[in-house]
Amino acid sequence: MIKRSIMIATGSYLPERVVTNEELCAWVNTSDNWIRQRTGIRQRHFADDKELTSHLAIKAARHALEMAKIDAKVIDLIVVATTTPDDTFPATATKVQKELGAFNGAAFDIQAVCAGFIYAIAVADNFLKAGQGSTALVIGAETFSRLLDWKDRTTCVLFGDGAGAVLLRVIDANSKDSWGVLSTHLHTDGCKRDILYVDGGPSATKTVGHVRMNGKEVFRHAVSKLSSVIDESLEANGLSPNDIDWLIPHQANQRIIDSIINRMKIPTEKVLVSIARHANTSAASLPLALDEAVRDGRVCAGHLLLLSAIGGGLAWGAGVVRFGIPVHSWCYSK
Ligand code: UT7
Repeated sequence: MIKRSIMIATGSYLPERVVTNEELCAWVNTSDNWIRQRTGIRQRHFADDKELTSHLAIKAARHALEMAKIDAKVIDLIVVATTTPDDTFPATATKVQKELGAFNGAAFDIQAVCAGFIYAIAVADNFLKAGQGSTALVIGAETFSRLLDWKDRTTCVLFGDGAGAVLLRVIDANSKDSWGVLSTHLHTDGCKRDILYVDGGPSATKTVGHVRMNGKEVFRHAVSKLSSVIDESLEANGLSPNDIDWLIPHQANQRIIDSIINRMKIPTEKVLVSIARHANTSAASLPLALDEAVRDGRVCAGHLLLLSAIGGGLAWGAGVVRFGIPVHSWCYSK
């Protein structure tokens, strides 16, 4: 027998306020046409001033707990992927823990920007497989609007706020059972940190700072690095693109997604895309797209998912997951 982390439930939350491209034109020298053509984005959600990353994270977590029909008390580990924590310290995950009353084990944040959710899944999966707990709550949550420079039209139109969550539960599986998180693949190249960064922080400037990006360079690396990590994860599992039910790519730019799926020969019908409605929500991008597709019935138990994301660092990664609960090994009522 081997240990596997199965993905038993998902949840998400978007702030109520929707800002369309047209509305942005009142603040920034841009156009709906430019934003749609260059990115695929039509609108984004922005948190109000009193709505913090932890609030979004807690709401997404509650949705996942409701779906799983489990009590927060069974959670042993909370990992929050975020670039926009409520405070410099302690971790946003500590607020999530307190609000949910999930005091069994540890709660901490992970910072890998837009790749944060994949990193958080990898960490939680490895904790569970190592026997350090049986249930993990993994959240990607951002109030990325706080980092935007409204004088920089090349970045401020691209991002939005939101949160998504998944619950992982460890099972003893037969080595041939291909359920749950099958593999994760993480990469970082610190030499590329200057093409996407925030120009502030408690140590460097004592301020929060704003997003700075060389869009063309990031675009180029996003296409090549995501294509290569998708290849790597397929190969590691002896799979071909045909075996995948859904590719869940980071929702940064429709043109990046199109370039990758053209290269990889993955049909558009197998790709979850939510960028038009959410824009780029950084660490929340993958779990938001996943939760929507689970709730509207596109993603079903037994489907094979390939998640991939890239962001500042550069940090990128992918994960292969067979979604849902294998009926023979565990059920919600246990
Ligand atoms: O999650 C992290 C990962 N981030 C990404 O993956 C983002 C990757 N990069 C991109 O998505 C694209 O590079 C952008 C969407 C950021 C930019 O698209 P682009 O096709 O690379 O445009 P560009 O930067 O080459 O700019 C083309 C033109 C420029 O005008 P000129 O010099 O040709 O006259 C820009 O000044 O578009 C202009 N422009 C805009 N015009 C209207 C740039 N931003 C805007 C804007 N509205 N918001």
